[in-house]
Amino acid sequence: MDFKIQWFPGHMTKAKRMMEQQLKLVDVVVEMLDARVPRSSTNPMLNQLLGQKPKIIALNKVDMADPAKTEAWKEIFKNNGLPVCVIDCNGVKQLVAAVQKAAQPVIDKWLKRGVKNRSIRVMIVGIPNVGKSTLINRLVGKNKVLAADKPGVTRGQQWVTIAKGLELLDTPGVLWPKFDDPQIGLNLALTGAIKEDVYDREQAAWLLTEKLIAAYQELLKDKYAIDFEAGAPVQDVFEKIAVSRGCLKSGGLLDLDKVVQLVLRDFRSGKTGRVTLDEPDK
Ligand code: G4P
Repeated sequence: MDFKIQWFPGHMTKAKRMMEQQLKLVDVVVEMLDARVPRSSTNPMLNQLLGQKPKIIALNKVDMADPAKTEAWKEIFKNNGLPVCVIDCNGVKQLVAAVQKAAQPVIDKWLKRGVKNRSIRVMIVGIPNVGKSTLINRLVGKNKVLAADKPGVTRGQQWVTIAKGLELLDTPGVLWPKFDDPQIGLNLALTGAIKEDVYDREQAAWLLTEKLIAAYQELLKDKYAIDFEAGAPVQDVFEKIAVSRGCLKSGGLLDLDKVVQLVLRDFRSGKTGRVTLDEPDK
């Protein structure tokens, strides 16, 4: 597949430097992934930057993902020894519990050295648009009043006590996505991690529809009130959507540009239905 993203390596260098600084301040990291694309939304370099620091996976936006595939992904993470929380920006209690559990070895090490009553510090990291800020707002919520500026945090960032002995950095760590694999680039474009102006939208909508015809035929038929044979060509399906949705140009010609917009927008906002693009079997 030939799907290109215009991408500037300078952005990555800056994001990496910032992440290195922020990671020095924390004991546990929560990497937030988009459950529709758990493989594509991970960061290629995070583990290397983390070293021995414990990491928890927060699989977010599960309300938009295919439930069976989310279960399968959960098992994959568990089998790889990674604690995983499945959330849709709710379920913050289980996340707090998972962070506390992951932090126990750190606390034990402190105790051995005679360090008592020190709070565990955690931050949420992830590529753009996975839901980091939304989750932070949920976690901070009523605890905001407890926030206090402390040394070692960039101006404007604060540690907020979200549970006994647990402090959260109220600013997310923004990771850069990986672009070397065109399939990953496409998945990130479709889920909204990449801005629309750096890729070909028509091509993205085309490839998405191809995938939906192959794997989520019924969703596509229901959503647009159309019918088609298994393996139907994308062009035919686009035309059927245009007719069903009244996407017409003057003179009655089908407006396929409108279909492109519609298909992309519906998918990104979860209106197409619960779809996971990254197959859990790989
Ligand atoms: P970020 O900090 O990681 O960049 O993400 P942010 O919290 O800003 O969330 C990005 C979008 O995803 C927001 O939509 C937010 O409401 C939505 N979102 C976050 N968590 C969930 C979830 O669990 N389920 C669903 N369905 N949506 C979630 P937005 O403000 O409408 O932005 P946009 O998508 O229009 O850009």
